[in-house]
Amino acid sequence: MSKVWIEENFFPLDIYREIVQQILSVEYVPILPEIVPDYGKAYWFTSLLPDDCDVQKQMVKLIQEKFNIIVSEWCHSLYTMIGKTAHGPRPHTDAAVGATHNCLIYMHGEESTNNGTGFYHKTGTGELELSIHVGFKHNRAIFFSSDVIHGPLTWAGNGSFRYSIANFFKGHDLSKDLKAQDAKLSVGGNEAE
Ligand SMILES: [Fe+2]
Repeated sequence: MSKVWIEENFFPLDIYREIVQQILSVEYVPILPEIVPDYGKAYWFTSLLPDDCDVQKQMVKLIQEKFNIIVSEWCHSLYTMIGKTAHGPRPHTDAAVGATHNCLIYMHGEESTNNGTGFYHKTGTGELELSIHVGFKHNRAIFFSSDVIHGPLTWAGNGSFRYSIANFFKGHDLSKDLKAQDAKLSVGGNEAE
């Protein structure tokens, strides 16, 4: 099932500040032109984190704790930078990465509603409608399943350069287990009656 969850103050403050320093000092490259169509023509700059680096380990731990999920396979983590874009919304899913979930953490940039991310749903006629509008706020993490259609909202006005961390991974949702357990218990209860 498609989900979007938000968690404020994702990193402890001292770690958040350290990572921001790193984010502002690394080099970024534009995404490869051949994969741009896979992301609804959305365009950004990235810096790939080395696998198993300290920041990644910290994120795996926090994502599991805060979003009640077991990470079964980590795909990759990226520092991302998006500029003030004049073009319109570029809604897309992250399905091309092959992950089940994405955790996007806002790190540095102007805190404003339009600097954030929009999430869309399909209407009865198959058109996309903006249904969740998440503002850009430092240290805010958004966790969503890879089939959720989304895109930066910087095109909507007052956007500026923003830095985030994008994490792609395969995970097992523990809340599903709890629901399944509840269902089993209630079935079991009925049987006993
Ligand atoms: Fe995306």
